Amino acid sequence: MIIKRCENYEQMSLTAADIVKRQVAAKPDCVLGLPTGSSPLGMYEHLIKLYNRGELDFSSVMTFNLDEYIGLDTDHPQSYHQFMEDTFFQQVNLKPGNTHMPKPDETDNLSGCQNYERKIFNAGGIDLQILGIGRNGHIGFNEPGTSFSSQTHVVQLHDETRRANARFFDSKDEVPKAAVTMGIKTIMRARTILLLCSGESKQEALIQLVCSTVDETFPASVLQLHPDVTVLTDKSACVILENKYPFKENELFI
Ligand code: F6R
Repeated sequence: MIIKRCENYEQMSLTAADIVKRQVAAKPDCVLGLPTGSSPLGMYEHLIKLYNRGELDFSSVMTFNLDEYIGLDTDHPQSYHQFMEDTFFQQVNLKPGNTHMPKPDETDNLSGCQNYERKIFNAGGIDLQILGIGRNGHIGFNEPGTSFSSQTHVVQLHDETRRANARFFDSKDEVPKAAVTMGIKTIMRARTILLLCSGESKQEALIQLVCSTVDETFPASVLQLHPDVTVLTDKSACVILENKYPFKENELFI
């Protein structure tokens, strides 16, 4: 695992966009795994700028999103579908048929989830999976206790996660209670993983991600077992970590 300490959120976002740019340049028909949330917003802005400057072409890229709420229409302003359309998809030349969101089949949850796994498999697997991280270590909507062998599945959201996401709704009561998410195993199958972790509120999550025991009580700890993970952080997220492990030229290799 490589941890790169950026000056601030803006620098982290620029670095993340550059990593995506290099991935697309190396493999124009690559498969990207994408997150929603606050962490990737700056990265999406920079990717759009690169596209507008003619430095990035998404015409052959395929995307699979990590997760989606259950119970919101796709055009609900807080659905992840709408978030992705507004924040990214509609502003670059991704082909609509090449973007995918997980969606449980209303009549049979299992087949909708299995179908998503099948689509990822048929696309050749995810080349670059981008992640944020929750304060309780969730990745995607894989809350503490999720099995490391999980694939795309339906989850009941923890209160802490619903509280954290209430900032996007009028009240916590409006935050859906369930979601569909790629599983831990789905994420671990990606060839390369890029995790974005910024801000003071993520200090504890960052130290646990890097050095907690690998177990299901802190889902992101599983990333310690992946052979190609880059964690991009900013200075305010690193305060606790850098006391324990001194960075060398803003990098830490663990
Ligand atoms: C979103 C997702 C979540 C977020 C996490 C951090 O698709 O999968 O795991 O990455 O909740 O959210 P932010 O970035 O808003 O702090």
